[in-house]
Amino acid sequence: MKITFFGHASLGIQVGDIHILVDPFISANPKASMINIETLKADYILLTHAHQDHILDVEAIAKRTNAVVVSNFEIVSYFEKLGIEGHPMNLGGQWDFEFGNVKYVNAIHTSSFPDGTYGGQPGGFVIEGEHKNIYIAGDTALTMDMQLIPLYIKLDLAILPIGDNFTMGVDDAILASNFVKCDKVLGYHFDTFGYIEIDHEDAKRKFFDKGKDLMLLEIGESIEL
Ligand code: NI
Ligand code: MN
Repeated sequence: MKITFFGHASLGIQVGDIHILVDPFISANPKASMINIETLKADYILLTHAHQDHILDVEAIAKRTNAVVVSNFEIVSYFEKLGIEGHPMNLGGQWDFEFGNVKYVNAIHTSSFPDGTYGGQPGGFVIEGEHKNIYIAGDTALTMDMQLIPLYIKLDLAILPIGDNFTMGVDDAILASNFVKCDKVLGYHFDTFGYIEIDHEDAKRKFFDKGKDLMLLEIGESIEL
């Protein structure tokens, strides 16, 4: 499983020859100007919730690639009205896709489209592919529900928001890492806007002091699990 950071909360996940995009917000992110959405590959687009900074580039990418949008029922219905194919899920449900299993799990946040349309309940994803298991928390507060995840799966990586203000910050993300029983963390949802700028070295040191590894990727950089 190869994971690429496209800035903010946007990720590429490659499982075998299947390309998955998560929460594409790239074209309006000045920090991600080196990423061209016209050339991104996508077979599936996973969306945690309906906020602009997670769905901005969905329509353009899905119409070019015919990618299937995977999200909650409300978000999938919204994109189906735009002619985009979708796979609706809801909290607690899982499904075996061609690349592996996806479970849509709880997140504590809000979820409305930029035009005000209701975006359902926000969520995160637990993805199993090529015998690697990852948790993508989405925009969320620290929540006790995270403790449910290690009851049914052993994670290889937890992708957690660390920018604070709109989501968990670093200290709560460390507790979240305890809750999901995964010491290997990829931080996201930081630095994009003034409200969520963080001190990288301070964040890494806080994780290190608890025996954990916080990875912060450059935009466009990948890791292999
Ligand atoms: Ni949000
Ligand atoms: Mn967000």
